[in-house]
Amino acid sequence: MKAQKKIWMDGKLVPWDDAKVHVLTHGLHYGMAVFEGIRAFSTAKGTAIFRLDAHLERFLNSAKIYRMDLGYSLKEIAEACAELVRSNPAKECYIRPIAFTGYGEMGLNPLTSKVSVAIASWEWGSYLGDAEKGVRATISSWARIDSRAMPVQAKSAANYANSGLAKMQALTSGFDEAILLNSEGKVTEGSGENIFRVKDGVLSTPPATSGILRGITRDTVIQFAKDEDITFYRNDATREELYTSDEVFFTGTAAGIAKVREIDGRRIGYDGTPVTNLMAKLYDQATHGKIKKYEKWLTTVSA
Ligand SMILES: Cc1ncc(COP(=O)(O)O)c(C=O)c1O
Repeated sequence: MKAQKKIWMDGKLVPWDDAKVHVLTHGLHYGMAVFEGIRAFSTAKGTAIFRLDAHLERFLNSAKIYRMDLGYSLKEIAEACAELVRSNPAKECYIRPIAFTGYGEMGLNPLTSKVSVAIASWEWGSYLGDAEKGVRATISSWARIDSRAMPVQAKSAANYANSGLAKMQALTSGFDEAILLNSEGKVTEGSGENIFRVKDGVLSTPPATSGILRGITRDTVIQFAKDEDITFYRNDATREELYTSDEVFFTGTAAGIAKVREIDGRRIGYDGTPVTNLMAKLYDQATHGKIKKYEKWLTTVSA
């Protein structure tokens, strides 16, 4: 990671190296932290953050689920993100707001801990590697956490222990990414991305009730599908339906639209990936301000 100049911490911009927390920070011990992953892109009008409000709404909802009082409104956090991007050298960047229970009290009750909010930004290239080549994925032996045990719709640090275990298993077994099934054996998502598949021209993705994080990029692709008159469903799939799909792709802020070329040794997209390619092209153009009707998703932060 290339250090930037500033990090926004509890209301003010501080030098990158000074954004530190105590080792007895409550959230570090008990997983009480919620965060977001947002990206800013270069456009003809300047640097713009993509779907900032949608990300911050999810951030506020994650905090609400965990009964965390952030002490800032959506508008204030949005302004802090903009100010941070303006202050740092990396303009096309990844933005990471995080809220966590801080230092002061120990023990499982999070309600006695002060909540801290911080926002960092840095340069982050393509998360899953070469988009053209495609991703080699595997079905994980780790099941996706169940919403009876953890609130899966909250983007909480604790949930990512599940993702981290699956990712580690995939990487050490020679794959690029894991696909997690839920406890009923239905496909949910990648360790840090939602998943789509195409069969006979029909695009589909698992429903929110399967146990996924409801992705903003997923929502963006669903809008593209509607606008392009592509038949689309939210429906459950089993692993063999993935193995026999014509196309499979991941969606996420970090990963963008990432084509899957193989799942557990079964080649995917053998006869081309027209729907994936179209979605990747639209996403690239929309994020860079090249499609008028999607300009509403961009918040310009610096000229
Ligand atoms: C587990 C998981 N699912 C899905 C996504 C995709 O969400 P988004 O498109 O909002 O980045 C992410 C990325 O944050 C994620 O970590």
